[in-house]
Amino acid sequence: MNPKSHLIESFIGLGALLIVVSALGYYILNEPVRIVQAQDEVLALQLDEAMTLYAENCAVCHGMSGEGIGATPPLNNPALVTMPFEEISKTIARGRYQTAMPAWAIEDGGPLSDYQIDELVMLIQYGDWGATGNRVVNLGLAPLIPFTTEVDPALLAEIGSLLDGATLQTAVTLFAANCVSCHGADGLGTGIAPALNDPAVREKTADEIQRVITYGNTGTLMAGWSNILAPEEITALVSLVQRWDEVPLGTIPAPDVPIPVTEESLALGSQLYAANCSRCHGPEGQGTPRAPSLNVKSFLTDTSDQAIQQIITLGVPGTAMPTWGDRMTDADIQAIVGFIRQWEPTAPEVATITRPGGGGPPWRNNNSTTPNLLPSTNPPSTISGNSAGGQTALQTLLDWRLLILPGILLSIAFTLIYSGWDSLRRLR
Ligand code: HEC
Ligand code: HEC
Ligand code: HEC
Repeated sequence: MNPKSHLIESFIGLGALLIVVSALGYYILNEPVRIVQAQDEVLALQLDEAMTLYAENCAVCHGMSGEGIGATPPLNNPALVTMPFEEISKTIARGRYQTAMPAWAIEDGGPLSDYQIDELVMLIQYGDWGATGNRVVNLGLAPLIPFTTEVDPALLAEIGSLLDGATLQTAVTLFAANCVSCHGADGLGTGIAPALNDPAVREKTADEIQRVITYGNTGTLMAGWSNILAPEEITALVSLVQRWDEVPLGTIPAPDVPIPVTEESLALGSQLYAANCSRCHGPEGQGTPRAPSLNVKSFLTDTSDQAIQQIITLGVPGTAMPTWGDRMTDADIQAIVGFIRQWEPTAPEVATITRPGGGGPPWRNNNSTTPNLLPSTNPPSTISGNSAGGQTALQTLLDWRLLILPGILLSIAFTLIYSGWDSLRRLR
């Protein structure tokens, strides 16, 4: 064999060997890093799944960010971080006997697998409660709690003159601070808890009512209050439940709880509003001849988030305002409410259009009497006069920025055609 080609072959062999060895070395050195990375990824995935499980199953009692609600303990508690893993998973799997904490494991009649329960323990020990709160909001599962309400002072004073009025006053105040979130204004009930201001409940014995308030009802939202309230406070609440017909309506008003928002929920709300509402209520909520203004001080300050949510969910029967509850999830509707609420700080005092049929389009009426109250992003006054509602869409369509892409494409096409034609000419 030619010694020269032999030498070349050896060099090639040596080179190949070097490549293999260094690749192997790189792999071995990198492996621990890769394993850690993979573990981090798995943990991140599990924590992500756990946040959704938490939102769907636990937030209603333990709060949107694990802060605890009423008599239900917080889970963002540092003591739980150092508690043995098994102890927490056992609590979740089996529940706490004779408390509102239900059993969650499938073998105990619950809905969660052992794997899911482990994920929840990881969330409790390593998770991010802020991100969990955002997940709960984005899924539309934020509990309307904790919230409290202010007792009407005049009516509270009036109750003082009833027989044993002081006890009733104590109870009304306790109810407004602890129970109204679930049992509703004046104890008339909500979607999540029954009315207590009800003849059927009044008929129960004091012992029965006392037992429910003290120990709760296992596996329901009704927790036991014995750790939070003193026995005489519970007794006072029992007498309120039994004598509620003597307490004037309006004493315990409905709470005004703002619906929580996140960046994502606001973006979703804006998108849903543009797609479903702006054609009637105007792109900035300023109203059109078809529907009233929503972006106006009086409406926004007088209407709570819950009320707006209810109007959107149920619609306004007998008007053009559709029922959205059967087309959108609660999360969607709450996102829209959050988006509408954002207008409040800058909302004009007077709506440019108030009611359908109350005049032409806003920018047609504005000539002399009413000042232009439209937000500055709206149809500029330069196109006033003959412009109508459709002008906004047309204007967007004619936005000069939309001309950039076709412009570039056209010039490329021209260049190609020209150079093709040029080279053909040279070939000839
Ligand atoms: C119906 C209301 C309710 C729901 C839903 C609920 N819990 Fe609880 N949870 C409670 C109550 C009440 C306690 C306190 C029990 C007691 O007094 O020991 C509790 C206690 C706990 C504890 C022990 C806390 C401690 O400090 O010892 C953990 C952990 C826990 N819950 C996790 C969860 C998880 C995870 C979920 C969702 C899968 C969940 N809970 C759903 C009501 C609830
Ligand atoms: C987190 C929501 C929640 C809170 C807060 C709450 N409850 Fe309840 N409560 C419920 C639910 C749900 C039920 C129905 C339980 C069932 O189905 O057995 C209930 C049931 C009751 C009952 C039994 C009603 C009946 O028909 O027999 C009484 C009494 C009661 N609650 C009193 C109170 C009092 C007093 C407070 C405040 C100290 C309070 N609850 C706070 C959710 C709540
Ligand atoms: C087909 C037209 C139409 C559409 C689409 C529409 N609305 Fe309405 N909306 C109305 C009309 C008309 C009223 C006034 C009803 C009345 O007379 O009380 C109204 C009333 C309301 C009110 C109460 C305002 C007040 O002053 O009391 C709210 C809030 C509202 N709409 C929100 C929405 C939202 C959010 C959407 C989109 C999801 C939407 N609407 C879509 C026509 C519409």
